[in-house]
Amino acid sequence: MVEDLCAHPPGHPLVLISDDTVAALYARTLCTRLSSVGLDAHLATFPAGESHKSRETKAALEDRLFELGAGREAAIVAVGGGVTGDLAGFTAATWHRGIAVVQVPTTLLAMCDAALGGKTGVDLAGGKNLVGAFHQPSAIYADVEVLATLPETDYRCGFAEMVKSAVIADADLFGALEDDREALARRDPDRLERAIERCLRIKAEVVAGDEREGGRRAILNFGHTVAHALESASGYSIPHGHAVSLGMVVEATLAVRAIGFPSEDLGRLERLLRAFDLPVRWPTATVVVEQVVSATRRDKKARGGRARYALPIRIGDMPAGDAVTLEIDESDLRAAIQGLEAGTA
Ligand SMILES: NC(=O)c1ccc[n+]([C@@H]2O[C@H](COP(=O)([O-])OP(=O)(O)OC[C@H]3O[C@@H](n4cnc5c(N)ncnc54)[C@H](O)[C@@H]3O)[C@@H](O)[C@H]2O)c1
Repeated sequence: MVEDLCAHPPGHPLVLISDDTVAALYARTLCTRLSSVGLDAHLATFPAGESHKSRETKAALEDRLFELGAGREAAIVAVGGGVTGDLAGFTAATWHRGIAVVQVPTTLLAMCDAALGGKTGVDLAGGKNLVGAFHQPSAIYADVEVLATLPETDYRCGFAEMVKSAVIADADLFGALEDDREALARRDPDRLERAIERCLRIKAEVVAGDEREGGRRAILNFGHTVAHALESASGYSIPHGHAVSLGMVVEATLAVRAIGFPSEDLGRLERLLRAFDLPVRWPTATVVVEQVVSATRRDKKARGGRARYALPIRIGDMPAGDAVTLEIDESDLRAAIQGLEAGTA
């Protein structure tokens, strides 16, 4: 990675963006190393956490780019999890109408999903990722060794996006995740690399066919209509991976009724998520169901204020063609959520 970054034109700032946790662990050292080989490298940090994936943080980063004299030849290196990748990617997308960004994901979730595909953005209090842009990274560098320092809850969150990739496109990967769940939970590097690579291939293939989500790319949103509503309704107190886990269980329950997703597959999905210590029961104490239902109306896929869902037919299979999202009655959504409240943990 350092060798590749040395190709950056001399005298133009290379700005590493990182949250304060990852800066202390990795980004500061990387910045020093890049400076030592003659690059004009600088570090810009922000406080860790989803609540800082905001317009305010982006504005502060822009002020820093201005202070550093960053012009069109400047580049940004996003070192961190999905929050950093989305925020730094969006900053790069709009700075001088677009400068290069390199993604260096340091969470499992960002390695297997968020760093790839070019979606960047920030949240509003009322809705997730509502302001953003498509801006592809010029390179992505991932090293599973850095996962050693990731706290257990953040680590487990990555499996939510991995399970999603398997459900939407690859029944064999789903089986491999079931078989390898213990090794993966232990952070076995070989199994991790294999699983991450399979997820990235799935995402790359989907994105290559529909970069700007005119149609098929929406399959990547399985579980996410509910997840995003849950995150904003909870004031971003629920981690993205937990929200995606719950979102997939709710949406798979909707799929059973709407398009015949097999109930045995719903059972397998819940068991695998539980095996990765991901939540499958509704956090009744934290979120009011009605707030989640109303937040789904503001989802980016909603049409005319009515939420749409990307639902699987069975594990490994989504509907063919480009028309992959479906409108669902809010009464069905309420019933699916209430079913999870009633279930045993
Ligand atoms: N752009 C996309 O296509 C896409 C896809 C999926 C998710 N996302 C976004 O990704 C975000 C979630 O990403 P996330 O789960 O990586 O969250 P995150 O970036 O907040 O990282 C989670 C926590 O782990 C810490 N951390 C990161 N790397 C570490 C390391 N190696 N060691 C120790 N601590 C480390 C961070 O400081 C943070 O506290 C959400 O905002 C979601 O919307 C984007």
